[in-house]
Amino acid sequence: MTESSPQLKVPKSDPDFFILEEDGKNLDRFEKMSARHPVNILTTGNQGCGKSSLVRQFAAIYNRPMAAFQIGLLLESGQLFGQTRLKDGETYYREYLFPKAIQTPGCVIHLEEINRTESPHALNELFSVLSEDRSIWIDELGFVKVAPGVMFFATMNEGDEFTGTETLDAALKDRFYRIHLEYLPEDVEREVLIRKTGISEESALQVLHLVNRIRNNEEMGISVSVRHSLMIAELVSLGASLREAMVYSLQISKDSLESLLLSVHVETGETKAERGRYVLYTPEKEAVKK
Ligand SMILES: Nc1ncnc2c1ncn2[C@@H]1O[C@H](COP(=O)(O)OP(=O)(O)O)[C@@H](O)[C@H]1O
Ligand SMILES: [Mg+2]
Repeated sequence: MTESSPQLKVPKSDPDFFILEEDGKNLDRFEKMSARHPVNILTTGNQGCGKSSLVRQFAAIYNRPMAAFQIGLLLESGQLFGQTRLKDGETYYREYLFPKAIQTPGCVIHLEEINRTESPHALNELFSVLSEDRSIWIDELGFVKVAPGVMFFATMNEGDEFTGTETLDAALKDRFYRIHLEYLPEDVEREVLIRKTGISEESALQVLHLVNRIRNNEEMGISVSVRHSLMIAELVSLGASLREAMVYSLQISKDSLESLLLSVHVETGETKAERGRYVLYTPEKEAVKK
């Protein structure tokens, strides 16, 4: 009945992914539990702090197929399952990946940005598949039953600034275990930067010194994720100065960066950038040289 779909693959593991030991142990418990009864996990944390990677890594570690769905983009109910289409004057129902995925035993279903739906109606079917009976009637498909061992991982961006605020419907939230991802401790993040970008230990320290000053400065209101520090580190590893790497990686202007560098008293050893020199940017590279 359920044909295997090319989109349902076991993801490749990330050899440089770190989590809190305790989170890992409990993920193992959840995995064991999933053989007995349905388990749903909500992963929260700031943007770019490893939520999606964690879901992928979980699937890779336990050799489970995985599929991700952007819940934040849903506009109406039914959109996850399929769509009625017209072909040669005839209507037919085109089944989407979601019903295939939830009917695949052991599949990891990643529900991305579950708190961001445009329309609350879009979540209607999710309530049914996440509940204990794990099944739903879809007119065009009949009775759709969630296969044994399927695990739902919902992720939502919820940083410390939102703690205590209900950003997700309480009845929905009620159905999940929760793992909250914090920023990595500095020594672990340094290890990640070194392993993933090949940046030197000294430069990695410099990057994180600056990044952590920004993170700890609430007035600046700039959140710098692991994704950002990786972007900065990769540029630095390719020869960019710290200043350049920050300008191109963070959504801030050169001016605010200057005042930022000043305000955090970071000694980067670089003088304030002059107005840049303009050069030709054409396929004839020689022209750039002069
Ligand atoms: N704990 C971590 N260990 C290693 N890399 C990480 C970690 N957290 C985040 N990253 C890296 O940062 C980037 C963003 O992570 P991602 O999972 O997409 O974040 P989110 O889903 O929370 O927005 C990815 O390249 C990911 O590999
Ligand atoms: Mg994500």
